[in-house]
Amino acid sequence: MTVGTQRILALTEPVATVSDYVSLGGGEGLSAAERRGPDGVIATIAAAGLRGRGGAGFPTATKWAAVRAAACPTTYVVANAAEGEPGTFKDRFLIRRNPYQLLEGLAIAAFAVGASRAFVVIKRRFEREIEKLLVALAELRSANLLGSVPIQLVLGPDEYLFGEEKAAIEVIECGAPLPRIFPPYQIGPFARRDSRNPTVMNNVETLAHVPEILRRGIAWFRSSGTASSPGSTVFTISGDVRRPGVHELPLGLPLRVLVDVAAGGVAGGRRVKAVFPGASGGLLTGAQLDTPLDFDSMAAAGTSLGSAGLVVYDDSACIVAATLAFSRFLAIESCAQCPACKQGTRSITECLARIEAGDGTEKDLGTIVAKCETVTGGRRCALPTGEAALVRSALSRFDEEFRAHLGRPCPLPRDLPVPKMTDYDETTGRFAYDDRYRLKQPDWSFREGR
Ligand SMILES: Cc1cc2nc3c(=O)[nH]c(=O)nc-3n(C[C@H](O)[C@H](O)[C@H](O)COP(=O)(O)O)c2cc1C
Repeated sequence: MTVGTQRILALTEPVATVSDYVSLGGGEGLSAAERRGPDGVIATIAAAGLRGRGGAGFPTATKWAAVRAAACPTTYVVANAAEGEPGTFKDRFLIRRNPYQLLEGLAIAAFAVGASRAFVVIKRRFEREIEKLLVALAELRSANLLGSVPIQLVLGPDEYLFGEEKAAIEVIECGAPLPRIFPPYQIGPFARRDSRNPTVMNNVETLAHVPEILRRGIAWFRSSGTASSPGSTVFTISGDVRRPGVHELPLGLPLRVLVDVAAGGVAGGRRVKAVFPGASGGLLTGAQLDTPLDFDSMAAAGTSLGSAGLVVYDDSACIVAATLAFSRFLAIESCAQCPACKQGTRSITECLARIEAGDGTEKDLGTIVAKCETVTGGRRCALPTGEAALVRSALSRFDEEFRAHLGRPCPLPRDLPVPKMTDYDETTGRFAYDDRYRLKQPDWSFREGR
């Protein structure tokens, strides 16, 4: 069996110029949208069943309809290109391959909700993608293929929370990436007394699906994927696999297909021990490789699809060390505004670090279990909920391994840094990782050192 890159996001070849994009049907999505009108566009996206690719799988049309219906004179739309989930590189891949499609999708979203401005929030450090977007933006504008709504890039910091929608709104207002309480669909940027500026925020990939749905139709979109998770998604697979990479595949294929076929399986006769879907959901074990990769099947398996970035560990990896790497990432990136994080996220990481160092006791395990009960439900964001899901799943599925590690040095010593990706070389299929991340401190400064 082979799995090739699908055609939905035109990812087979990079789209180099606006005329290449037009020859692939670029611009037809926006024209179709203008013919159908805002309500027709929202109805089409609803019927296609498009769900957000930024982590939660929320129905896109529901979000758009809420902002369109809001009784406010000003509304905005935002493309979320902050991409900070460990093990995920799909949005940057997509922008490198075809920045036009994202921008057309954003223009369609702006048209559908009646927005007066559109933003792309992106990390300042994503220089290559910023350059691509600026060129594509200028080309699309001069080809008159973007409608009338102005689109502005907002460059932000490297912090994970920048990708969280309520924090991204703060960054648009030139603030720090600290999540506020109200979601963007209720209070958007630059809210005033006479307008709360309700705002739609969508992930890059979500928006990139939009022009093709408008252009090719509902039945075409639904011809791949499952009834409740239609279409394809762009997976990033990394870790202990022969061929790490980025693959667009229909939703609903078994995890095994991604691991064994697309990524060539694990090397050296080893077996899959665990698969982490980024830092914000429960892990899956090697016995769960038949789990279909769609929103509902992943939820039924006790985890979430997240941003479809899957990190594979083989049986040479210590599960305590791997869990600690993700947990430390979440503790460092937490802004500690809510009691859930303040009182839980960091102490879970400290207990895990003690166990990994060989100094852990039963009491540490008990503390982790107790804290996992209280770190759910952060008021401002889902970071602590992700921490609880991740750590709880590791403990319940690898209970014996955690216990065997208590009071003993790591039985499987191996360097397992959090897979924070900085680059992807398609020709060699290699990801580059942020080596400096290990120096990052909870106050978001960097310790001296190498
Ligand atoms: C801690 C945290 C980090 C997040 N980072 C990102 C991100 O980098 N990119 C993204 O699209 N969504 C991210 N999200 C999800 C966004 O808050 C938001 O739900 C998403 O952009 C909505 O887009 P969608 O409906 O198209 O999925 C993050 C959420 C949390 C809690």
